[in-house]
Amino acid sequence: ELKENTIIIVLGASGDLAKKKTYPALFGLYSQRLLPRDIKIVGYARTKMDPEEYHKRITSYIKNPDDKPEVKQKIEEFKAISTYVSGAYDTDEAFEGLNGHLDEIERKYQTKERNRIFYLALPPSVFIPVTEHLKRNCYVLRGGVNRIIIEKPFGKDLESCRQLIGAVKQNWTEDETFRIDHYLGKEMVKNMLVLRFANVSMGAAWDKNHISNVQITFKEPFGTEGRGGYFDEFGIIRDILQNHLLQVLSVLTMERPVSFSAEDIRDEKVKVLRAIPPVERSDTLLGQYVGADGKPGYLDDETVPRDSVCPTFAATTLWINNPRWEGVPFILKAGKALNEAKVEIRIQFKDVTSGIFKDISRNELVIRIQPSEAVYLKLNAKTPGLYTRAVPVDMDLTYKRRFGEVHIPEAYEALILDALKGDHSNFVRDDELDVAWKIFTPILHWIEGRSGPRPRPVEYPYGSRGPAELTSFVAKYGFRRSEESYAWPTTNIS
Ligand code: BG6
Repeated sequence: ELKENTIIIVLGASGDLAKKKTYPALFGLYSQRLLPRDIKIVGYARTKMDPEEYHKRITSYIKNPDDKPEVKQKIEEFKAISTYVSGAYDTDEAFEGLNGHLDEIERKYQTKERNRIFYLALPPSVFIPVTEHLKRNCYVLRGGVNRIIIEKPFGKDLESCRQLIGAVKQNWTEDETFRIDHYLGKEMVKNMLVLRFANVSMGAAWDKNHISNVQITFKEPFGTEGRGGYFDEFGIIRDILQNHLLQVLSVLTMERPVSFSAEDIRDEKVKVLRAIPPVERSDTLLGQYVGADGKPGYLDDETVPRDSVCPTFAATTLWINNPRWEGVPFILKAGKALNEAKVEIRIQFKDVTSGIFKDISRNELVIRIQPSEAVYLKLNAKTPGLYTRAVPVDMDLTYKRRFGEVHIPEAYEALILDALKGDHSNFVRDDELDVAWKIFTPILHWIEGRSGPRPRPVEYPYGSRGPAELTSFVAKYGFRRSEESYAWPTTNIS
């Protein structure tokens, strides 16, 4: 349940994440009246800003394309509940100042209860001191809950992750800690639990006997423009595969949880992740984009070292050593500066037993996470008419068509609301993170040159489908491109 007497404190309020994601999500929840009635939002950062500047900044990414007066009105109300305190990230005085501001707000409460939710939209360098100071200077000891919401990067490999998690644990319990992987807040990722466990037909084919291979694909049509300095230290595997795509993989492959409770779900996710051995070099394809058609290459970014071999594209194949999945390749692939924006899961089923059909397409189940949420199943049906010939068709559940213009919550909206309710189901548990790093740490160390010369990523042009080698890479794992490709329906939606 949602608690009255709650303050959400956004640390790093002047930064990019806060401006682009946190505040718009808070506004979305506020304007749908999903936050507690008396909610107050307090921003904190080093930058000195007057209220006007703060309000301008936090509302700059809130959309109101048609300039609707009711949205304008809501924005004004949202500003009225939002205040700002500036201060350092490493001194007691600064955090006492923040605490004084929170106390002042709370003095007006009717009851003794006080709840504080701290959202850390911060760079990793100040992460640990902030969690310490919050505990020491801003923690409510009696009558209410304290929670922290934290964001990746959670370290750079297994060891640094353990250090970081350990340091946070000195002050914050697992129950108080909400580690965001915003892919877990996406509608279609949450849908996996229902598709899999509420449908006998799906469940029946969900194993190595029926599935040939699975691809989980993340494509972005833009490069690291401006963010190159950060990106170069991390690379695409840490940015996307080790967290977002691995989370999708775990909900796709876990056994049925005993219940929908957070711990039951996370127990199953950890169990399946533990059955995945570290990624092999031979199961990896790395790429880096180069300039094309007037678009800059990765190395043209001024914030990137000239000779960087940081991958902006990676395809890695993971294997799950358990009875359900043994031998099924799970290809995770992600890239920046590709030809389109698309995130999808593509499950390709095996060939039908030979003998009666020739050259028949395989079944594929595709779950499109974004954009334009959809689930479609490629089947073979008889061509209408006098002949018995098979033709590939689709059973299509495009959300817009089926559900009309229903509002699908933004991932950050859904997750912030979960954290306010104290529901951990869609947050990453400590042991989940540990095993996720175990899978990727050896390959990351190899890429960083810890065991010899650094591997060179292959080049791919900005705006292309990725490295040319990708086609043979996926074919190696048994993926068969079908002749008919599904045409995304853009017209005739009634
Ligand atoms: C972030 C990555 O975690 O996810 C970004 O750091 C990436 O590089 C983003 O662009 C993608 O999120 P979404 O929700 O736009 O798919």
